[in-house]
Amino acid sequence: MTRVAHAGVGGWGKNVVRVIGELTDLAWVIDTDEGRRAEYAARYPQATVTASFADALADDTVDAVAIATPVPTHYALAKQALEAGKHVFVEKPPAMRGEEMAELVELARTNDRVLMPGHLLLYHPGLRKVKELVDAGELGDVACVYGNRQNLGVIRSNENALWSLGVHDLSVILWLLGEEPSEVVAYGQDFVQPGIEDVVFCFLRFPSGKVAHMHLSWLDPHKMRKMTVVGREKMVVFDDMELERKVTVYEKSPWKRATTYGEWQTRSGDIFIPKISTDEPLRLECTHFLELIAGDGDRDKVARDGARVVRALEMLTTSLDG
Ligand SMILES: NC(=O)c1ccc[n+]([C@@H]2O[C@H](COP(=O)([O-])OP(=O)(O)OC[C@H]3O[C@@H](n4cnc5c(N)ncnc54)[C@H](O)[C@@H]3O)[C@@H](O)[C@H]2O)c1
Repeated sequence: MTRVAHAGVGGWGKNVVRVIGELTDLAWVIDTDEGRRAEYAARYPQATVTASFADALADDTVDAVAIATPVPTHYALAKQALEAGKHVFVEKPPAMRGEEMAELVELARTNDRVLMPGHLLLYHPGLRKVKELVDAGELGDVACVYGNRQNLGVIRSNENALWSLGVHDLSVILWLLGEEPSEVVAYGQDFVQPGIEDVVFCFLRFPSGKVAHMHLSWLDPHKMRKMTVVGREKMVVFDDMELERKVTVYEKSPWKRATTYGEWQTRSGDIFIPKISTDEPLRLECTHFLELIAGDGDRDKVARDGARVVRALEMLTTSLDG
């Protein structure tokens, strides 16, 4: 069984460590917070609980490290873990700069280790269905994709809405379209805390001519977790706030009537709601990490896809700051 050392058992990390503990051998739990260490020492008596990341890396029986610490710590921790010869799962984004991410990808490649960024939504069965529809050409050519990720809170103080919320939608948009943006524009505003944008609007244009948009905000009356893909023949909406209709496919499109002088009309056909499995995305994600370690799947691609997200984030940040 793969032996894992897990770092960071805060708000999100507690979910990751739970799933890892269910799937494989949780050997170490690392957190700099004393209270959390006491809690986890009681919960996982078989694991060594410590504040020292280096001690866990020095354990030769540890195969892999999972990192769910705050974003600014990711790059340094992931680098140390890869240099120590461990496979790495690191929460999104693994680095804050494209250059740092490229270094991690290269380190993983030369050491033949897994470097898997925690892009949870890529494992959501609803979005997997959307990807299946796009790849099968069901929607016709995709014209545009837009994401809505809004809520009142959680107001973060160590990252803005682009970095906290945008990483999710950006990872999905790049995955669905299979290309990197050639042009991006981001506008945002800091209303609650100086210098930290609470509301961000992003526009992305791709070499193929497809476009995408993201509305990211923790200052909004609506709780929205939605992604809309507009194809030339069909359109699909993924809505994570829905319980039973996570994915809705609309047979809607523009079409030209042959009987007239070619004027454009719109066509509205059936609305289809595919059944989506209720498998936990985090469990699917952690299972994939273990499969990659075992040699199944394309470990280089996972790391390279993560690098595309960091590059696009960097472009958007430059625009937002400009
Ligand atoms: N995939 C998702 O859906 C999702 C959702 C929320 C957060 N996240 C990501 O998870 C990560 C953690 O977010 P969070 O909300 O749990 O943060 P958090 O602040 O609640 O928890 C971070 C934990 O890491 C510990 N820590 C800090 N520095 C450390 C270090 N150097 N070594 C060991 N422990 C350290 C802290 O004591 C704390 O317990 C972030 O990267 C965030 O982007 C992912």
